[in-house]
Amino acid sequence: MSETVLALENVTAGYGQTHVLRELSLSISRGERLAVIGRNGAGKTTMLATIMGLTRLHSGRITLAGTDISRHSPHRRSMLGLGLVPQTRDIFPSLTVEENLTVVMRGDASLEEAYALFPRLKERRRNGGTQLSGGEQQMLSIARTLMTEPGIVLLDEPLEGLAPVICEQLMHAFEQLAADGRRTVMLVEQHASAALAFATRAVVITNGTIVYDGSATALRQQPELLERHIGVGRTTN
Ligand SMILES: Nc1ncnc2c1ncn2[C@@H]1O[C@H](COP(=O)(O)OP(=O)(O)OP(=O)(O)O)[C@@H](O)[C@H]1O
Ligand SMILES: [Mg+2]
Repeated sequence: MSETVLALENVTAGYGQTHVLRELSLSISRGERLAVIGRNGAGKTTMLATIMGLTRLHSGRITLAGTDISRHSPHRRSMLGLGLVPQTRDIFPSLTVEENLTVVMRGDASLEEAYALFPRLKERRRNGGTQLSGGEQQMLSIARTLMTEPGIVLLDEPLEGLAPVICEQLMHAFEQLAADGRRTVMLVEQHASAALAFATRAVVITNGTIVYDGSATALRQQPELLERHIGVGRTTN
């Protein structure tokens, strides 16, 4: 049995009084590559935000390597090794690429490692955040999260709106991040094919609950299965 690194147990969470996630349970092993699939508004971002402590947890709990972190601040969760690359790619536009990285850098994190992963960022290191293309901004957003040395990387639709060639480069970078089980990677993607090619395990979220949890290959080889699981919530809700 592999070691559980992150677990959501019967989590009901949302914004204010609203419930978005409903009794959601998910247990992730160290070094796992997990794809999270679901339509717009299914609750994917809310799940990542809940793991980071950015939503209201109504009931249930979240554990990190066995420790209950349900009441920990987002900063404390980050210090414990959770790293979110937000869907909004919120880099600092007024800082250069290099400043964006050094300002959040921690411990043994190295600029060279980030630049090795994304050579393009090294070329652009003196450029301001606003001078970057969408793909470069996404690379910077990912590199910035890596500066906090996360053992668990949560990627929220990193391919959204980017050209196929850039998506390929990003997927290659994710392969490197996850290589040798060094990091646990949770990849949220609406466009399933790339995510399922990367992941070993996949979950499908519909209306704040998990309707499929199993092999990524099975979903990839049977698109009708994916359609069925995404379709289930639409007909029942
Ligand atoms: N800050 C917020 N305050 C209130 N409701 C919110 C907030 N953010 C999201 N929601 C609601 O929560 C539900 C789930 O949204 P969420 O952003 O988690 O979906 P998603 O699966 O990430 O969708 P997408 O693929 O479009 O990013 C939606 O009904 C949305 O309107
Ligand atoms: Mg989202």
